[in-house]
Amino acid sequence: MSAAAKPLAPAAPARVPAHVGVIMDGNGRWAAARGVPRALGHKAGAEAARRCIEAAAEAGIGWLTLFAFSSENWQRPAEEVQDLTALMRAYLKTEVGRLVKDGVRLRVIGERERFGEDTARAIAAAEAATAAGARLNLNIALSYGGRAEIAAAARQIARRVAEGSLLPEEVDERLFGGFLGTAGMPDPDLIIRTSGEKRISNFLLWQAAYAEFVFQDVLWPDYGAAHLAAALDDFAARERRYGVRLG
Ligand code: FPP
Repeated sequence: MSAAAKPLAPAAPARVPAHVGVIMDGNGRWAAARGVPRALGHKAGAEAARRCIEAAAEAGIGWLTLFAFSSENWQRPAEEVQDLTALMRAYLKTEVGRLVKDGVRLRVIGERERFGEDTARAIAAAEAATAAGARLNLNIALSYGGRAEIAAAARQIARRVAEGSLLPEEVDERLFGGFLGTAGMPDPDLIIRTSGEKRISNFLLWQAAYAEFVFQDVLWPDYGAAHLAAALDDFAARERRYGVRLG
């Protein structure tokens, strides 16, 4: 049989990350470029989030964590904080039906209590309503900061040691991870940041120990399925070594 007639070996399945984290950056610049209020940039950002969630589910990603509001975002001007929190509340209300229909299970990580009782209740209701979703696990990080999350875990562990229910020797990486907001979830394999900025900005600090990073030069409101596909292609071509020298 000539080489040309040889049946092709089946292509290796593309490596799809189990967990993708996204730092959605550039809403403000998108709005400024159009001469519209920042709030419209965030609104367009929420639509991009919807496109990204759909594309992630289509791509077979199991876990998607979107960084929607950082611990530091509370320090933005009061009007912008109000716009962002109102957008989150509206999103929780309007998106739940779509998430249920699409098999998406929503969880919120971060200090949800800082948004007040009503919002915390709306978050709990959205989590309960989507709890049966098995196609994609969606985490939205709200009032989230990696350092605050690690400090909170350390506090809980210290309390247990002080009350005698835990020995210091029992504290290892596995146990520590169980006290984080992401307990029981896989670590992110891939973290994407948009808008051309190349920083981690306090996102999933513990969990990102071995994540691959992809920085994309697109403002978040313009993000779509093709951008996610490009990031996944980039990821699939990386060799991951976890600090181990292979061969
Ligand atoms: C960064 O852009 C984005 C944020 C601070 C908020 C992210 C929120 C959304 C994408 C909308 C809501 C999403 C959901 C899932 C409800 P920036 O304002 O820092 O932009 P800039 O760096 O260009 O000023």
